[in-house]
Amino acid sequence: MKKILVTGGAGFIGSSLVDELIKDEGNRITIVDDLSMGKRDNIPKSDRITFYEKSVCDYEYMQELLINEKFNYIYHLAAVASVADSIERPAYTHQVNLESTLNILETVRINKLAITKMLFSSSAAVYGDDPTLPKKEISPIKPKTPYAIDKYASEQFVLRYGELYDIQTVAVRFFNVYGPKQNPKSPYSGVLSILKDSIDNNRSFKVFGDGEQYRDFVFINDVVGAIIHLATSSKCVHEVYNVGTGKRTSLNNVIKDFKEILSSNIPIEYANSRTGDIKYSYADIQKLLDSGYTPKYSVTQGLRLYLK
Ligand code: NAD
Ligand code: UD1
Repeated sequence: MKKILVTGGAGFIGSSLVDELIKDEGNRITIVDDLSMGKRDNIPKSDRITFYEKSVCDYEYMQELLINEKFNYIYHLAAVASVADSIERPAYTHQVNLESTLNILETVRINKLAITKMLFSSSAAVYGDDPTLPKKEISPIKPKTPYAIDKYASEQFVLRYGELYDIQTVAVRFFNVYGPKQNPKSPYSGVLSILKDSIDNNRSFKVFGDGEQYRDFVFINDVVGAIIHLATSSKCVHEVYNVGTGKRTSLNNVIKDFKEILSSNIPIEYANSRTGDIKYSYADIQKLLDSGYTPKYSVTQGLRLYLK
């Protein structure tokens, strides 16, 4: 039996991860999520899942949980996941996105907890607006927001703690993840969730800029596949991996794909670019490929499943 902790397990990526992990009957999953963004309904029903509506910033609670449960795997995904939110609440973001990570690491270190692997979810936001493309893990780091600063610091704590104190750790930098369960409700939600929501509700979709900006849009199934692979592979330790597809797709091309898949016209308005918007971003995923994981979904394949 494997005991697995998923923080943020009621959110978009966390609950999709739980959907996959629960397929293995040997897994027992504990979720800690304060439901600030996640939803209880996202969590699959199973007697092998225990859900605690708690904050990862309840440090004593987390310490007790870790000491009592002795997890084999920890996926630390809970976060203030919105960059805009981190700019509104930098000090609170710091507690959730950095101090909660340090608390987990300290608890593991001081109590010599024998975890098999701890995985931390960082972000492509750490690269900021540096123009080097595609982004390699060794590309310049230019975090420009409280979100990105804390993601970078946390990721480095996780990796260097791992080396210093012999704790098996790994970190991932997600690019632009999309798929079912992504919440479209904020103007800063993932663009594809907003596009889908506009179509579902017969609203026009607003493109900021000329639509030629491109991103590395990665389907949730590949994100889940990659993180389970990195967490369970004993070779992948004390390293950070980009998680994307390695392909760039412009917003205009995504809209074209949506139209073709749905065989319908989507009313589009073009507006000025957003201040601070990054024009181009995509990942070099050679390191992920070398580790033994190959993404399975092209953007068109991922969108087909998403829109089904
Ligand atoms: P999400 O908001 O859907 O999930 C985050 C979850 O964490 C939510 O369920 C939320 O309720 C929970 N949470 C927030 N604060 C908490 C707290 N104090 N205690 C306990 N739970 C708390 O976002 P997501 O897209 O699923 O993101 C998951 C992780 O991946 C985050 O760490 C995020 O920063 C990172 N990430 C996501 C993307 C993306 O494209 N979605 C890109 C880069 C990095
Ligand atoms: C991502 C983060 C963002 C962070 C940035 C820094 C997500 C969801 N967003 O932004 O918070 O600041 O990385 O690395 O992970 N767009 C539209 N119409 C819309 C919404 C968006 O045209 O209604 C455009 C945006 O202006 C942008 C592109 O679509 O050019 C992608 O936007 P978004 O999904 O927010 O991702 P990032 O810009 O990569």
